[in-house]
Amino acid sequence: ESAEKGGYQHFMIKEIHEEPKALRDTMASRIVDGKVNLSDLNVTREQLEKAGKIIIIACGTAYHAGVVGKYVIEKLARIPVDVEIASEFRYKDPLINEDNIVIIISQSGETADTLAAMRMCKKVGAKVIAITNVVGSTVSREADHVVYTWAGPEIAVASTKAYTTQLLCMYMMALDFADKMGRISADEYQRIIEEIRKLPELAQEILDDKEIIQRCADETFNASSIFYMGRGLDYAVAMEGSLKLKEISYIHSEAYAAGELKHGTIALIEEGTPVVALATQKGLFEKTLSNIKEVKARGAFVIAVAMEGDTEIEKEADRVIYIPRVYDILAPVLVVIPLQLYAYYVAVAKGCDVDKPRNLAKSVTVE
Ligand code: G6P
Repeated sequence: ESAEKGGYQHFMIKEIHEEPKALRDTMASRIVDGKVNLSDLNVTREQLEKAGKIIIIACGTAYHAGVVGKYVIEKLARIPVDVEIASEFRYKDPLINEDNIVIIISQSGETADTLAAMRMCKKVGAKVIAITNVVGSTVSREADHVVYTWAGPEIAVASTKAYTTQLLCMYMMALDFADKMGRISADEYQRIIEEIRKLPELAQEILDDKEIIQRCADETFNASSIFYMGRGLDYAVAMEGSLKLKEISYIHSEAYAAGELKHGTIALIEEGTPVVALATQKGLFEKTLSNIKEVKARGAFVIAVAMEGDTEIEKEADRVIYIPRVYDILAPVLVVIPLQLYAYYVAVAKGCDVDKPRNLAKSVTVE
């Protein structure tokens, strides 16, 4: 087993370090000559126009990738998207028809609730696209179309490289849909393609400078609760950061939309409560900054994640983790990496069994 870990202490940290390669492999054959080429998909303009809506269904971390997917498909392609937890979807009377396009996201392709939800969608005749990491998995065999994440085997229970590559697939799909629907300018399309191509390199930069993240973990691993907040895409990533932390460190954690703070969560902030505040979204930066001030005023210890150059945040936050500057719509792919590392270092500091956390399974194949 230690040979398989390639010199790393745990699979999780090894897999985090594999993210640049996983991103590169996932885009390799699909971004060709400055264009997204999802030949594995072939959704036509007519199908998109007729679809009415797209429904994304998944569980756990894959669901969180779906939340980002909703933001980006709606923003770029202007098609309404519902994002559903599979175990909820399967037991309601869902609004779905044969024209809808369904995107199933599942690392393993074997999650029981996800499979059941997928089969319901197929039954009504909707077009089902799967994003999965396992070739030959049940999801890959039963879906109408498959877009593989080429992340390689993921062993650690806490999902890392599968999530970042699921995000990448969501971006490529959103661009493809936006282009087919004629809803994106050539300039905007090119800009996003160029920035996507830089992601592996930028992810590597984060991995090359982990000291501040380790320091934040050392300062907070004794906390009984850690909160995450952000707005827009930062909120979507906050949910995943919070899940990572609770999965492997057993620290109670919640993610909230920063604007919701005053509707409840702020009551829980005490002297020293760690709050991880994500502030990478341009139009929302000032708003998140004022939320940081609000929690600081109640005694929170704020660890902020922001883009290089946005140094104004240093005046408010106790610690700042910078990510390389990128077009803010793509920030989730980079923002999540410090959050994965933070969860990892907190769990290691607490002496937890990082790769096999209690009560959790890599793939939940029974209900
Ligand atoms: C389990 C795993 C998670 C995963 C979820 C969905 O809870 O521990 O890491 O996100 O199942 O799994 P899937 O294979 O469908 O993506």
